[in-house]
Amino acid sequence: MPLVHLIYVSTASENLSDDALDEILSAAVRNNKPRHITGMLLYAGGDFMQVLEGDESQVDEIFSRIENDPRHSQVMVITKELVAKRDFSDWSMRFRRLVEHDEKDHPGWAPYFSSGFDAQTMEAEPGVALTMLKLFAQTQES
Ligand SMILES: Cc1cc2nc3c(=O)[nH]c(=O)nc-3n(C[C@H](O)[C@H](O)[C@H](O)COP(=O)(O)O)c2cc1C
Repeated sequence: MPLVHLIYVSTASENLSDDALDEILSAAVRNNKPRHITGMLLYAGGDFMQVLEGDESQVDEIFSRIENDPRHSQVMVITKELVAKRDFSDWSMRFRRLVEHDEKDHPGWAPYFSSGFDAQTMEAEPGVALTMLKLFAQTQES
C-alpha cells in the first residue's frame, strides 16, 4: 500500500468562527483516525493549507470529500507524492491558526502566510509548504 502525502491550499468561503473551525476539525479527526490518515491543517488570512498523509486510496477518498466542501473554494493541490515515512504521525489532524505572534517569531516565513497562502508561490516551492506545515506542527498557538 503506497504511502503518500497530499498538500493543498484553499480559501475559506467566509470568515469562519471558532465553532465552525472546531466542527471541521472534529469531522477530520473522526474520519481520519479509522483510515490511518494523519496530517496538519493551517489557517491564515482566510486561507487553508493542509497536508494529508496515509495510504493513497484513503487519502484520495478523503480529499475528494474535502475538495467538494462548500466551506472553502479555490482548492489547489500543491503536491501529491510517495513518501517513505510520515511526518505527522502523532496527529489524526492537528489544527493551528497562524496569528500575529507567528509573524514576529518567524519573520523569514511571514511573507508566505501573513496575507494567506498563495497557491502559485507554494506550487513553485512545494518544499516551503511542507517545511511550514512541519514547523507549525511543533509550536503552540498562543
Ligand atoms: C479545510 C477543510 C479541511 C478538512 N479536512 C478534513 C479531513 O482531514 N478529514 C475529513 O474527513 N474531513 C475533512 N473536512 C471535512 C470534509 O469536507 C467533510 O465535511 C467531512 O469529511 C464529512 O464527514 P462526515 O460525513 O463524517 O460528517 C475538511 C473540511 C475543510 C473545509
